[in-house]
Amino acid sequence: MNVDPDCPVLLRGDDKRRMVKGMFDTVAPRYDLVNRVISMGLDQSWRRRTVKALGLARGAIVLDLACGTGDLSNVLEDNGLRAVGLDLSFGMLEASRSNAPDVLGDAAAIPLWDSSVDGVVCGFALRNFTELPPVFAEIARVVRPGGRIALLEVATPESAIARAGHRAWFGHAVPVIGGLVSDRAAYRYLPRSVEYLPHPNRIRQQLRQAGFAGVGRRTFTAGATQLFTATRAGVPEAENETRVAVVS
Ligand SMILES: C[S@@+](CC[C@H](N)C(=O)[O-])C[C@H]1O[C@@H](n2cnc3c(N)ncnc32)[C@H](O)[C@@H]1O
Repeated sequence: MNVDPDCPVLLRGDDKRRMVKGMFDTVAPRYDLVNRVISMGLDQSWRRRTVKALGLARGAIVLDLACGTGDLSNVLEDNGLRAVGLDLSFGMLEASRSNAPDVLGDAAAIPLWDSSVDGVVCGFALRNFTELPPVFAEIARVVRPGGRIALLEVATPESAIARAGHRAWFGHAVPVIGGLVSDRAAYRYLPRSVEYLPHPNRIRQQLRQAGFAGVGRRTFTAGATQLFTATRAGVPEAENETRVAVVS
């Protein structure tokens, strides 16, 4: 069994991928209900802010990476954007309430052409991926130059008071509530899974290394969640053509 040397309760590599897939297949039927309860109804406002932060025009095509039951896809569509979902768990896709097209697949091998989307959003999934750099490389490959990304994740608040409240809720209450309404093991994993997240500065650095510029981070609700935004570096195709025309 491939475990994380810094935290032996956490799996790595293919063992993690299998565990994550199985866990989301199990929790899928009650996933949305538990989400609303454990976020005290705030999760949808975080998703709306994520889509707004993209700043893309209506009609833009946006990949909802690790789309789960389609909450972010629905917000994209509500804002006039065209969503395409991708998720590893068939159970989550089956429980989806989104009409956007979706595909079963792995974020580390996205089945889309290079530069085929205007943006990518990802909600609460970074810590579930086996490794971040290969996923960031795939996001950079499928987003066109000048395209935008907005990646939403849980976070640990910085202030001591907020951190204490967060630990009580997220570390103790959530596993109990999740266990009662859904699956005990899955919601015991949830607070532990935060251990997988690199420091925000490391995530910023990894995004820059993958080919993103203007990497920004903001937090919501006293630091309980964080949002990374960035623009795909490179010259957008239309500008590229103009330059070629001017040169020749
Ligand atoms: C916490 S859920 C978030 C779902 C949705 N984005 C939301 O905002 O509610 C995490 C999702 O990531 C998916 N996931 C985990 N690893 C994945 C991978 N390697 N490729 C694609 N999806 C993955 C899971 O199946 C699950 O649906």
